[in-house]
Amino acid sequence: MIVELPAALYDEAVALWREVGLTRPWNDPDADLRNALGGPSSAVLAWVEDGALLGTVMVGTDGHRGWMYYLAVAPTAQGRGLGRQLVAAAEGWVLAAGIPKVMLMVRTSNELVLGFYEALGYEVNPVATLGKRLN
Ligand SMILES: CC(C)(COP(=O)(O)OP(=O)(O)OC[C@H]1O[C@@H](n2cnc3c(N)ncnc32)[C@H](O)[C@@H]1OP(=O)(O)O)[C@@H](O)C(=O)NCCC(=O)NCCS
Repeated sequence: MIVELPAALYDEAVALWREVGLTRPWNDPDADLRNALGGPSSAVLAWVEDGALLGTVMVGTDGHRGWMYYLAVAPTAQGRGLGRQLVAAAEGWVLAAGIPKVMLMVRTSNELVLGFYEALGYEVNPVATLGKRLN
């Protein structure tokens, strides 16, 4: 059920990200999707059931670590284990790329989701992430 996101479902993926609150006005999810699909160091995995998109995870590697973004399960399909299996698929993708550690960032406004990641064996690292806009 987990496949590389088919082209026919690109718009549905962005709509799902908007629906579950993963987009922000200053980010362009369509551009994020195109960038992630544009090279061998990243991919978007999708849970597709009867042609419908029920979940996604964007995964990639910077050569040192693997990263996950846009983990989303459709509200009607949450609580069925899809999120857990999407994370496992992303972990498999990272391992297959020869990278032994996977990371993700959680917005402080979404801290309730930490319980989900903790259930999957993730722990909060004692680091601060820094960022700078380049455009
Ligand atoms: C987070 C999300 C992907 C989880 O997907 P899901 O399919 O509902 O999760 P699963 O059914 O696979 O749950 C896996 C386990 O985590 C647990 N879990 C799920 N949400 C949890 C929460 N908020 N707190 C604690 N545990 C949680 C489940 O009980 C389950 O445990 P079990 O396997 O022992 O029963 C989904 O809620 C979602 O799309 N949220 C909105 C988008 C989002 O916040 N994405 C993450 C951005 S960092």
